[in-house]
Amino acid sequence: MATMATLYLFIVLLLLPLPYSYADPDPLQDFCVADLKSAPSVNGFPCKLASEVTSGDFFYDGLSKEGNTTNLFGVNVNAGNVLAFPGLNTLGISMNRVDLAPGGINPPHSHPRSTESGIVIEGKLLVGFVTTGNVFYSKVLGVGEMFVVPRGLVHFQLNVGDGKALIFTAFNSQLPGAVIAPLTLFASTPSVPDDVLTRAFQVEDDVINGIKSKFGL
Ligand code: GLV
Ligand code: MN
Repeated sequence: MATMATLYLFIVLLLLPLPYSYADPDPLQDFCVADLKSAPSVNGFPCKLASEVTSGDFFYDGLSKEGNTTNLFGVNVNAGNVLAFPGLNTLGISMNRVDLAPGGINPPHSHPRSTESGIVIEGKLLVGFVTTGNVFYSKVLGVGEMFVVPRGLVHFQLNVGDGKALIFTAFNSQLPGAVIAPLTLFASTPSVPDDVLTRAFQVEDDVINGIKSKFGL
């Protein structure tokens, strides 16, 4: 009888969902080619010795200054990620400062490893993103207003006010990564073949070359 009860219990336990299931952690960088000769490491950066950590490791003033927006897009994105602020390592968060000249655009881009939220500090911006089903959501935002962009979706901010604009953005990744659509497609190294671009956009070579020339290619 005891044997039957034990067997029954064993079968029930087998059928129960496991209380914990582990999967690989999300990547913290674009890629990590294995060096099979070295000892295993973490997915991210090794830790500084605790005895060498100081208060300074947990504070960062890199986002305090206005960025230079004299460029093609009229934007400066200052990324306060783990590469600039090592104290963020393994904490899964980071922030950017985005300055936009009048008429400036933070061009369509996506963050493969993060959702983004943001708040307008100065100016007026058209903020929008497109879903995987090609639905476009957007709104013109003023000072103090927030937005959110779900992870991986293509989004932009366009300064539609009369003066400069400033936003701060926040991420649930220490290194969100940014795939900037125009640069990814038209300014990669080596170049994406013209044949791919003419067919993808259904235009002639001269259009593709015209766009590439804007990025100095
Ligand atoms: C804004 O979209 C940013 O990535 O900081
Ligand atoms: Mn973004």
